[in-house]
Amino acid sequence: MLQLSQFYKECHDLFCQQKTGQSHTVDIQADTAHLMKLIMAERNNYIQSGAFLQKLQYKFDQLLWTDEIEYIDRDDFPAADKQKIVDGLHKKNSLFGTYQKIFNLILPYIREVNQQENRPCKILEIAGGSGQLAFFLAKKAKIHSLNVEITSSDIVEHYVIESAKQANKSNSLVTFKQIDALSLDKLPKREYDLILNLHSLHHFSAEQLAKIFYGSQIIANKAFVAMDAYRGVRNLLFIGGSAFMQSMVTLNPMYAHDAWLSARKMYPQKLLEIIAKMACPDSHVNVTQPSIGLTALVIEPERR
Ligand SMILES: C[S@@+](CC[C@H](N)C(=O)[O-])C[C@H]1O[C@@H](n2cnc3c(N)ncnc32)[C@H](O)[C@@H]1O
Repeated sequence: MLQLSQFYKECHDLFCQQKTGQSHTVDIQADTAHLMKLIMAERNNYIQSGAFLQKLQYKFDQLLWTDEIEYIDRDDFPAADKQKIVDGLHKKNSLFGTYQKIFNLILPYIREVNQQENRPCKILEIAGGSGQLAFFLAKKAKIHSLNVEITSSDIVEHYVIESAKQANKSNSLVTFKQIDALSLDKLPKREYDLILNLHSLHHFSAEQLAKIFYGSQIIANKAFVAMDAYRGVRNLLFIGGSAFMQSMVTLNPMYAHDAWLSARKMYPQKLLEIIAKMACPDSHVNVTQPSIGLTALVIEPERR
């Protein structure tokens, strides 16, 4: 049976063949939309003409994908409830040691900037939600005597205000800003060393991801580092199941609703790699699995 990662690679090869001979477009989003259409068409071909098990596998994959929007991304959902959802995510991130895993990934970059360039490492977190990753990193930097300047951002003003209040109370040096992750290319070039993103890739369409990846390479000196849940049936059941329990305990269905949709929207590793390489052809792209339920994506601009 054709592995799904192999399937995505074949779709990308087909996309490249179709592009050959056409006039070269530099519209990354249009190219990504074209690739996604091609993937859907090819998947349909397998569903119609593949062997029985293959049909089943591709049909299941097709049924899982959804464009339905999580409450957390809806304009008509109360900010206070959105805050509860991101606070709930923070508890899970703490429980599973996800902040530590991000710290482990970025530590070599911070040391490089501090020791070789003798200056603070400037970090921007995008789609930061409750801002707790930024607080965690600031504490870690203090413990390890690292020189960092951390800014955390989100598109939702409410989170930014709440996190800034918390920073004030705790005398934290983290700065909070309202930034649209889709407009990174409008920020000053090479303003930051690292751009971080946790548990948010699945909130964006493939075309939007391409825009974010592209923008990140304009403003980052060292790397864009993202982590999100691993796409797989076991993880799907785990994420759905644990959020269902949370909804039962709190008598609030919003956690299960958002977690289930999120789990269905997680990107396969191969597809993330392809999108990143298309959006940032001059960058170095690396996709890994730092632990059983996580995918990490690192995109380093060539100029490093
Ligand atoms: C699942 S939450 C993750 C929050 C946080 N990173 C965490 O791990 O707890 C997704 C976040 O993406 C933010 N978001 C969605 N669209 C955005 C955009 N265009 N620009 C910036 N943030 C965005 C949401 O407001 C939300 O806080």
